[in-house]
Amino acid sequence: MKLNLRVWRQQTPDAPGAMVTYEVDGVSRDMSFLEMLDTLNEDLIVRGEEPVAFDHDCREGICGACSLVINGEAHGPERTTACQLHMRSFRDGDTIDVEPWRAAAFPVVKDLVVDRSAFDRIIQAGGYITAPTGSAPEAHATAVPKPDADRAFEHAECIGCGACVAACPNGSAMLFTSAKVNHLGALPQGSPERETRVLDMVAAMDDEGFGGCTLTGECATACPKGIPLPSITAMNREWLRALRKGRAARD
Ligand code: FES
Repeated sequence: MKLNLRVWRQQTPDAPGAMVTYEVDGVSRDMSFLEMLDTLNEDLIVRGEEPVAFDHDCREGICGACSLVINGEAHGPERTTACQLHMRSFRDGDTIDVEPWRAAAFPVVKDLVVDRSAFDRIIQAGGYITAPTGSAPEAHATAVPKPDADRAFEHAECIGCGACVAACPNGSAMLFTSAKVNHLGALPQGSPERETRVLDMVAAMDDEGFGGCTLTGECATACPKGIPLPSITAMNREWLRALRKGRAARD
């Protein structure tokens, strides 16, 4: 296949960016989207031009590093990560726009690379369990009811890629934060910190400048791991419960 790529190029966080058009030839339908970008970069290097900077790590849909808006959609036309998107989703002669995540809380570092450390700071605020672990406990010592285990696992699938933020017209991180809150809150090991976790993580989310949720649902549609929209309402309930409990304790 031969493709026309319009790629966002931006030298530094403060430099003005622009879409630059490239032609890429010899693209196989079986290539992943990132392998197609590798082909472009090899061509650019041979021509003595600077390759396009983009994030990637596992290339297996696990790490969440690949963060591309493809033709206006976070991770492109399929419900998967950009590294798992294959070129068979496109046609010979297509023009494809490739941009970085667009969100105030994810500033562009260079080209297609954005700074997602705001997510790290939300996790640091409460996305962990501090129960003393000691040596590895016997697996069945803490019984977890099957529905709770399933619920925790469903939310643990979040890979923190940021597609939810990129897809949301408000740049909200509610789906990401709710996945972490619901994952840990569903487990007995995470229960002692339920209240502080949700209050601190939501406060950190607000501090980072993410927008509010108006339940447009774009986040859940773009999520490559299928984190469901009701996760957000569950987190809101958890937050209200924690707030009331804190007030009751003070009164
Ligand atoms: S590179 Fe790891 S999820 Fe895409």
